[in-house]
Amino acid sequence: MKIGIFGLGTVGQGLVEIIRQKEGDIAIAAVVDRSFARKQQVLKEIPASADRNLILKDPSIDTVVELMGGIDDALYVVRSALEHGKNVVTANKALLAEHGYALFQFAEAQGKFICFEAAVAGAIPIIRNIETIFRNERITRLMGIINGTTNYILTRMRKDGMSYGDVLEAAQKQGLAEADPTLDVGGYDAQQKLALLISLITGKWVEAKNIPVRGITELSSQDVVWAERFHNRIRLVADYCFQNDNHYMHVTPALVNEQNVLYDIEYENNAILFQGEYSGEHLFMGKGAGKFPTAFSVYSDLKHLQSGSARWSYQQGQGYLALGDIADTSSAFYLRLRVKDQPGVLAAIAQILGNNALSIASVHQDHSAVAAGEVDIVIHTHAAKRSRFYKGLGEIQALKNIVLHQIYLPVLT
Ligand SMILES: NC(=O)c1ccc[n+]([C@@H]2O[C@H](COP(=O)([O-])OP(=O)(O)OC[C@H]3O[C@@H](n4cnc5c(N)ncnc54)[C@H](OP(=O)(O)O)[C@@H]3O)[C@@H](O)[C@H]2O)c1
Repeated sequence: MKIGIFGLGTVGQGLVEIIRQKEGDIAIAAVVDRSFARKQQVLKEIPASADRNLILKDPSIDTVVELMGGIDDALYVVRSALEHGKNVVTANKALLAEHGYALFQFAEAQGKFICFEAAVAGAIPIIRNIETIFRNERITRLMGIINGTTNYILTRMRKDGMSYGDVLEAAQKQGLAEADPTLDVGGYDAQQKLALLISLITGKWVEAKNIPVRGITELSSQDVVWAERFHNRIRLVADYCFQNDNHYMHVTPALVNEQNVLYDIEYENNAILFQGEYSGEHLFMGKGAGKFPTAFSVYSDLKHLQSGSARWSYQQGQGYLALGDIADTSSAFYLRLRVKDQPGVLAAIAQILGNNALSIASVHQDHSAVAAGEVDIVIHTHAAKRSRFYKGLGEIQALKNIVLHQIYLPVLT
């Protein structure tokens, strides 16, 4: 196998090191990187250029590894590689979530493969397991922590009592968060990965932008403390279920309790828990990112291609998946309201919840973390249709003269 690597950054360098150490039969014929001149120490004897044709126009290269990230250039490279009769390995979930539908069809038409184990949950071998072992199984539920950056932030907020902003800054210094963290903290990275997972699971394409998403930016240290008081932890979860012939999914921060395996997934680790109709519950846990964990998944895709057992990732011609409205599903909720500390406030809120048939499991008040004249009210509701909760929340938000701020989290079961 002769490969050409586009992008000699974190993952690209990891891959070069792994291939050198394994001393196997994968030859790195060339590297294309816009700043290849700065990377001579890693490149050593490997021919390199900023010119894509070094790889694309070399007929002896049978496999292109795309590790540049971004969308437009990566799309050009992947399409051209397929056009030139080369297989592709990529870790680029953003590219696949946006252009995968067309790219996978194009690859199949060309008789070539796109392998992307590293694009979802780094080192965790989830893609190939879904494509092979679980191909004929109906997955009825999937919940996962598939963004390491947000899990790291939430873990440090809890363990070190730090604010969201302070942890984010520390994570950026350690290279665990991007300079522009929007994709991660806004939940969009998890949204892209969930779209890819559910496309594979159902065989129909899921448009990432159609998956409802909430990130972690509104969370405060108080929510982390409140979660702890009730033996819960906050996780950013990618959540899917198949119910009454509908496919429901969303990305949301949620409370998980001690019985849930996601409770113990800390720092930048990832985990994916899913339920098969016949095979029961499965848990995959491991490194969701990092130089070697991610590069190893790329390497493993190369070996898979080399063995001749690669396959097309999802059934062609099945079209797009219709998504159920998540508001039609049920959940219990945590609701924290910062309100004016005056008589009748709690009664007004309880009235709204009652009017929407939302039953209260517990109510707590705390003055300690707020300014004089204000109070935090924390309400846990019993499970009810989300649409009823959202309607009640809208009515509570309308009490602008007494409700200053609110945040809600579903409770994951
Ligand atoms: N890092 C992880 O842990 C991880 C985990 C899972 C998936 N991924 C995915 O893996 C891919 C690579 O990530 P990474 O962390 O290795 O990124 P990175 O460190 O930023 O490396 C990207 C490399 O590609 C070069 N490059 C970028 N755009 C280019 C272009 N248009 N033409 C030529 N060269 C270009 C960059 O050059 P400069 O040095 O000049 O910027 C850099 O050397 C991304 O799709 C990412 O989402 C990464």
